[in-house]
Amino acid sequence: MSSADTFTVNAGNSSVPCAPDQKMLDAFLRNGVWVPNSCNQGTCGTCKVRVLSGTVDNPPAPDSVLAVADQEQGFVLSCQATPTSDVVIDPPVEDAGAPRHALRDISGTVGIVRDVAADTVSMTVLLDEPLDFTAGQYVELAVPETGETRPYSMANPPSEPGKLEFHIRRQPGGLATEGWIFESLDVGDPVTMTGPWGDFCHEPEERDVGLVLLAGGTGLAPLKAIARAALEDDPEREIHVYHGVRTRAELYDVDFWEGLSATHPGVRYIPCLSREQWSGRTGYVGDAMMEDLPSCRNHAAYLCGPPAMVEAGVKALKRRRMPPRRIRREKYTPAVRLVPA
Ligand code: FES
Repeated sequence: MSSADTFTVNAGNSSVPCAPDQKMLDAFLRNGVWVPNSCNQGTCGTCKVRVLSGTVDNPPAPDSVLAVADQEQGFVLSCQATPTSDVVIDPPVEDAGAPRHALRDISGTVGIVRDVAADTVSMTVLLDEPLDFTAGQYVELAVPETGETRPYSMANPPSEPGKLEFHIRRQPGGLATEGWIFESLDVGDPVTMTGPWGDFCHEPEERDVGLVLLAGGTGLAPLKAIARAALEDDPEREIHVYHGVRTRAELYDVDFWEGLSATHPGVRYIPCLSREQWSGRTGYVGDAMMEDLPSCRNHAAYLCGPPAMVEAGVKALKRRRMPPRRIRREKYTPAVRLVPA
């Protein structure tokens, strides 16, 4: 043990201090060592690292998240594992496009809370200090007096460093929504969070390809940040935005997207309703995209929404010949824990 209070986790050229009750991923990201990550809940498998020496406390992971063969080779989920001695891990492969923003604790106050659709609010938090992040990433909001956090993606781009915009849908009985945000949250309330998390990130180097953004419900939030960041780089960028919801009452941010397409000739906005007839498009976003685009060979995609929508969208993009390496999906699925009865 390196000191009375911490262990050392060594990853190649980097060593980071890690408290006995601290997850290794948290220690890496706080010290600027990038490890790919998404859910921070032990459900996606993105953050796996191989322990070469030392011991960790590591809750069992299902085979679907961390294959038995990987577990036998010493892989653990770094978002769940805590060290019980000094540890050496196989350093993750360097990814030139990885976000380099150190994870940190963040505080601010609620600036605006707006009802934007049925059971959906847009909330703005004014930050005490600016936050560096990449469009597409998320923070974990602390739910007051519960010791729990909930992930919410930023809907605004990093060029607005003093504030964060979130889109939040009510979850029936949800600890964060019915126990707090839709119940007692008010303008001026203090908010704490950690971030930025996640590797669902706008990749600005691909400036020459058109973007296809497929969103379901409030999965629109990170795609709004990505679209705005992409247009800051290139106002002429070709961007096809498909937003799927069930009914018209669930549709939101229509004025924003219609305004964006009016001022940016490359932007097409296509809202799709899956359970209601109207004058616009009906059906699922992947089907609508296939009707419109004969080929996606020269496009890149970002998808965020319910897992079934994302899976169907990925299949649709592959059928339109999009290279798999250009298909990026948000992998986290928020934990559901209900308000105590
Ligand atoms: S399992 Fe660790 S980030 Fe998803």
